[in-house]
Amino acid sequence: MAAFNTEKVLSVHHWNDTLFSFTTTRDASLRFHNGHFVMLGLEVDGKPLMRAYSIASPNYSENLEFLSIKVQDGPLTSRLQHLKVGDSVLVSRKPVGTLVIDDLKPGARNLYLFATGTGLAPFMSIIQDPETYEKFEKVVLLHGVRFVSELAYADFIQNELPQNEYFGDVVREKLIYYPTVTREPFRNQGRITELVESGQLFTDIGLPPLNPETDRGMICGSPAMLADISNMLNSRGFTVSPGVGQPGDYVIERAFVDK
Ligand code: A2P
Repeated sequence: MAAFNTEKVLSVHHWNDTLFSFTTTRDASLRFHNGHFVMLGLEVDGKPLMRAYSIASPNYSENLEFLSIKVQDGPLTSRLQHLKVGDSVLVSRKPVGTLVIDDLKPGARNLYLFATGTGLAPFMSIIQDPETYEKFEKVVLLHGVRFVSELAYADFIQNELPQNEYFGDVVREKLIYYPTVTREPFRNQGRITELVESGQLFTDIGLPPLNPETDRGMICGSPAMLADISNMLNSRGFTVSPGVGQPGDYVIERAFVDK
């Protein structure tokens, strides 16, 4: 298991039947950019069974946090969902990924974070990074889910982060959290794509429609969601970052699932 660190589970939180999160110890040598992912898993029959997981905690945090779906017949998550405090997990030593603020072209005002489902995870790291607020006037976090119970971290985002003792004031001034639900009643309803196309989002948050001159984007969700939001941004004149170290108007990463 030389490619992996063994970490201990410190806490587990079940949001509902399909979604949970957990925190682990963090090896002192692990360095990452907010938005990065690692390979995470368990030793099964003497072999590592690993999947990509975005790190939901910020890079200054002592521990690591992960958000996961529970797939009943998923090779990894069918096991991972039974994690208990004190259990061991394997974490790769070299975090990587394309969802990093450094790969967005400078000079914009607003940062749009487009997430569906567990695609929220990398943005939990990014909204806890004070640098995010140094680079943008407004940070708009869109989280689309099917059911209200899937709005993980809603309470943390709305009530705890704005009270952060170091940068709560900039969070209160700059972070706009916009959760939306598609399959039951909620204050915001509909897919993110529909809310952008109809203009409802901009009416609700009081910002002008998307414009590559003033806005940057980061997208994390299912392959279909990535394709639809990319097309929507492309049609408005945005260009995607071609790869790590090559800035664009937006960056994308798929939310990883246990298939
Ligand atoms: P919907 O309920 O209309 O399918 P999933 O769990 O399938 O990843 O979906 C999470 C959320 O993302 C749901 O609210 C779902 O809406 C929405 N969604 C699914 N596909 C897309 C897409 N292509 N573009 C935007 N939102 C999507």
